[in-house]
Amino acid sequence: MNTPFRWSAIGRHALLPETTHDERARFDAIAHFVRFLAEGVTPTVKTAYDRRASEAYRRTHGADPSSREEAAAALEADPSYQAWSALRRSLMENRQLAGRMVVLRQADALAAKARELNTGQARLRLDPAFTPPRYLSAIDIHCMPGGYVTERMPDDVTGPANLDVGLYGTVGGSMGPYHDGAGRGIVEWLRQNAPDFVPRRIVDLGAGVGHNTLPVAQAFPQAEYFAIEAAAPMLRYAHARALSLGVDRVNWIQADATDVPLESGSADLVFTSMVLHETSRAALPRIFRECARLLRPGGITLHLEQPPYRGRPPFEQAMRDWDGRYNNEPFWSGLHETNLPAELVASGFAPEEIFETQIIAPPVDGGAAAERKMEDFGRTPRWYVAGARRRGADGSRA
Ligand SMILES: C[S@@+](CC[C@H](N)C(=O)[O-])C[C@H]1O[C@@H](n2cnc3c(N)ncnc32)[C@H](O)[C@@H]1O
Repeated sequence: MNTPFRWSAIGRHALLPETTHDERARFDAIAHFVRFLAEGVTPTVKTAYDRRASEAYRRTHGADPSSREEAAAALEADPSYQAWSALRRSLMENRQLAGRMVVLRQADALAAKARELNTGQARLRLDPAFTPPRYLSAIDIHCMPGGYVTERMPDDVTGPANLDVGLYGTVGGSMGPYHDGAGRGIVEWLRQNAPDFVPRRIVDLGAGVGHNTLPVAQAFPQAEYFAIEAAAPMLRYAHARALSLGVDRVNWIQADATDVPLESGSADLVFTSMVLHETSRAALPRIFRECARLLRPGGITLHLEQPPYRGRPPFEQAMRDWDGRYNNEPFWSGLHETNLPAELVASGFAPEEIFETQIIAPPVDGGAAAERKMEDFGRTPRWYVAGARRRGADGSRA
């Protein structure tokens, strides 16, 4: 097994929490365990499914599992899946605890650093009257204590700091030193598929801590950039992180992606990256309608997610659905069952404007973003994309 994870390769910035030797060793162990689970254990679950679990299901039901629910029922009765699932959940709990321990002991220092970088900066626009959607505040998404929106002290950034530092545990170095593989992938995809595309305004919906915002902003320095995000702690951290990495052009706006405070027909690129599976079924069409409203003729919208379930074998669907069942992702299953191209059409795009594609994280210097050798059903640095390109003003593809 290759070493997936080197702390020395981590992209540093002023907001990244400090870690002790033992804390780094803990993240390192988690990263290697995650990889062992993907490469060493996941294949044994497939073997157990083929040789034992589906046979047991057939004996009871008189037929093979033919849907993800039936495949899940077969798997959940089998000790191989039970062990894999328990380890995966326990790894996620451990990763969250490890990150939380790191950030809580330096909560005041992190808040002070963010405050120092953020004070008086016009591009950070927090709205104290804004109430984040209930689906973000009601649960701790993917077992992250407090989710994205919780604030336990003034200027709290412990949630995003935990997310940032702990991501090294869950994805190793596979997204690159700055966890920006999706953003770099968007830039590369646009270069290859729309070489003449020069956006004047970019809107990044659900920008989080800005991991994937910065490479897009840096690739198109001429563009006005709006990063829309519901959670104040994320925005505080994201703005300060961006400044400390030398990116000062992004406007970080607290708003709901279903109601973006920008004029209609004003944007050339509107995208989401790993956002839709964390938004409610009711919010999804409203976000797509905002994309349709915001885009100019010739504009492009891209939505990066894990692949949809449609057309995939029941076993793979059941494995991919683990996050929906056991990782506190209430919208995961529904999103991956949704036909996003059809949803884009229902939200105001013409059928001929729609496309589906794939975006892959380009390798970074030194190969730090090397792709995992094995499919691990959810953590590889490649994304399914549902997108649309608005026809030009004359009705042509711009
Ligand atoms: C998994 S993170 C992805 C962050 C970032 N796009 C990335 O690629 O790393 C999802 C983010 O979307 C935000 N979000 C979810 N629903 C939203 C909404 N309706 N409006 C604005 N932000 C939203 C969450 O607060 C969270 O920061």
